[in-house]
Parts: sequence; C-alpha cells; structure tokens
Amino acid sequence: MIITIDGPAGSGKSTAARVLAERLGFQFLDTGAMYRVVTLVCQREQIELSRQAIVAARAESIHIQFDGHKVLADGVDVTDAIRTVDVTQGTHFVAVNHTVRELLGTLQRRAASGRDIVTEGRDQGTVVFPEAECKFFLTASPEERARRRQHDLERRGEHLSLSEILAQQTARDRRDEERAVAPLKPSPVAIRIDTSHRSVEDVVGQLEGVVRQRIPIC
Ligand code: DC
Repeated sequence: MIITIDGPAGSGKSTAARVLAERLGFQFLDTGAMYRVVTLVCQREQIELSRQAIVAARAESIHIQFDGHKVLADGVDVTDAIRTVDVTQGTHFVAVNHTVRELLGTLQRRAASGRDIVTEGRDQGTVVFPEAECKFFLTASPEERARRRQHDLERRGEHLSLSEILAQQTARDRRDEERAVAPLKPSPVAIRIDTSHRSVEDVVGQLEGVVRQRIPIC
C-alpha cells in the first residue's frame, strides 16, 4: 500500500509523513533527501551540478541508505550535511536532471516494492506512484513556510533573515513548478490540505482518518 504526500518546501509534509508512517506501522521514504545526497556528493567532489551527464554518472554509483532518522551516502552519515543552505540552493540543478530523476524514481519504486509505505516529495503521486492508494498534497502560506524553514535552520546554527528565506523559497517554488520534468503539481485525485496555523498532531490526525477510511485494513 502506497500513500504519497507531495507539496512545496515547508508545507510540513516531511514531519507529517514520518509521524503518519509511524502510526500506521508503514515504512517512510524521504525522497527529497535522495536529491540532497546527490547534490552534496557532487559538491564535495567539486562536480559542477549543471553538467548533467557527469552528475548522473556519479549519482548512479552512490549508495543511498536510510537508517531510522539517519541518511547515509556510501556508508557515511550525511543526515545534517544534506540540510545546509548550500545543498538546498544546489538541489534544483539535480532536480531538473532527467537521468537522475529516472534513477531516483527507480530506486523509490524499488524501496516501495512489496511494502506498505508513506513516501513524500514533489512527484510521488503524479510520476513515481500514479497507482498509489492514497494521495495528499500539502501546502501552507509562504510566510508560514518561511518561518518553519527559519526555525529549522536556526536549530542547525544557520541564521538567515525571513526576507532572505522568503526570496529563496519563492525562487525554489517557481523552479519546482515550472521545470519540464516532473514539476511540482497536485495529482488531480490528491486530497489538498493547508497546514498553515495547524499543529502536526492535527494534520496527522486528518491524514490518518482519511487513510483508515480508504484502506480499512490499516
Ligand atoms: O523536500 P526537500 O526540500 O528535501 O527537496 C530537496 C530538493 O529536491 C528540492 O529542490 C526539490 C527536489 N525534489 C524533487 O524534485 N522531487 C522529489 N520527489 C523530492 C524532492
């Protein structure tokens, strides 16, 4: 059984997806982390992110693993390293790389094969798992999303002004929505939820209610 949660950065999808997966006893897949790993590895190896063929070749040889809350690249813990502003800024080059998208899509389908899974990203309900039993699209107001991002960065010791974050976020949204391959858009059958001013508990409660209604076995 596959539950997809797509939406823009800061919509609260990662937290909601993780908690929902725990409650249902499903696996959780953070597909954004995979794009981040490819970005980080290339940046560390000084591979120019715009050189699509070289990036794709390197991506093919990276061993990406999830171990609870940890993310490993070729056996090295990169959980925090993939969340920096630098990596975040670089991910859009990787996200428009058609070959990398195909590769990561294949890995995502393999991770879901024969499992119950909650998977989150930008294209999970549209491109990677069009057959998913339950699809959600989470949003929140730009200001709220920027505040969440600022809070996240502060916890990691990075301090950016709200206006700077908003500007970066607007640019990322535009790139995510306008790219030719797998743009960020809700599946026509996705349930749309605005998470602005709502607690994680409240949002997850709603998601869980929908899933249990749709999939009585849960
Ligand atoms: O959700 P996130 O911020 O961790 O995503 C990191 C980047 O990867 C962001 O630029 C969007 C991109 N992404 C994507 O294109 N497709 C996905 N399924 C997940 C993330």
